Amino acid sequence: MAKLKLGVMISGSGTNLQAIIDACAEADYPAEIQVVISNRPEAKGLERAEKAGINAICIDHKNFETREAFEGAVHNCLKEHNVELVCLAGFMRILNSDFVNRWRDRMINIHPSLLPSYKGLHTHARAIEDGVRFGGCTIHFVRPEMDNGPILMQAAVPIAYDETPESLAAKTLTYEHKMYPAAIRMIAEGKARVSGNKVAFNGIDSGDVGIISPATK
Ligand code: GAR
Repeated sequence: MAKLKLGVMISGSGTNLQAIIDACAEADYPAEIQVVISNRPEAKGLERAEKAGINAICIDHKNFETREAFEGAVHNCLKEHNVELVCLAGFMRILNSDFVNRWRDRMINIHPSLLPSYKGLHTHARAIEDGVRFGGCTIHFVRPEMDNGPILMQAAVPIAYDETPESLAAKTLTYEHKMYPAAIRMIAEGKARVSGNKVAFNGIDSGDVGIISPATK
């Protein structure tokens, strides 16, 4: 079966990109990366892509006068590389609704909180400050409103008593790296699709293990 063609968009370190690269290196993985686009020239993720022999392109937003012009260049690049699914992986620029609507139901994002809680920045620090027992991460289809859209997958991460934003970020990242390749696989295999404002699953168990934090014994 033809592999799903991915375009991965990054702004920084690219550890989620690396997880996707590693998954794609497996022969039976149903997706392949066509292009990696960074809006920042210094993004370490660009080196990760080059090292893996993947097209790595910097489209520096600073070289464009308007957001529309920048997004037009990104859109053209994705089309030139025949991208079918856009994966935002630590892409830290807001995207206009025109761009988002052009990729409606064909663009997913990973966010380091249990959405719809803690949209925006500093998610881990805010969760710790509020004393909630769980942080987490979410993969969702992208809609024009920031950090919004049908939710595909989430992981809940218990917050320890001495948790710092850094320690929670590190713990959460390990789940992000497990989730992103799994979420792409579900889409590629036709097991997850948008239905209204939710994601409908086909032949996938929701998981039945509840977690209590703090532990009761
Ligand atoms: C990840 O934690 C991702 O969830 C977050 O940026 C980090 C990127 O790490 N994304 C957002 O905050 C988007 N709003 P990475 O570059 O190592 O994959």
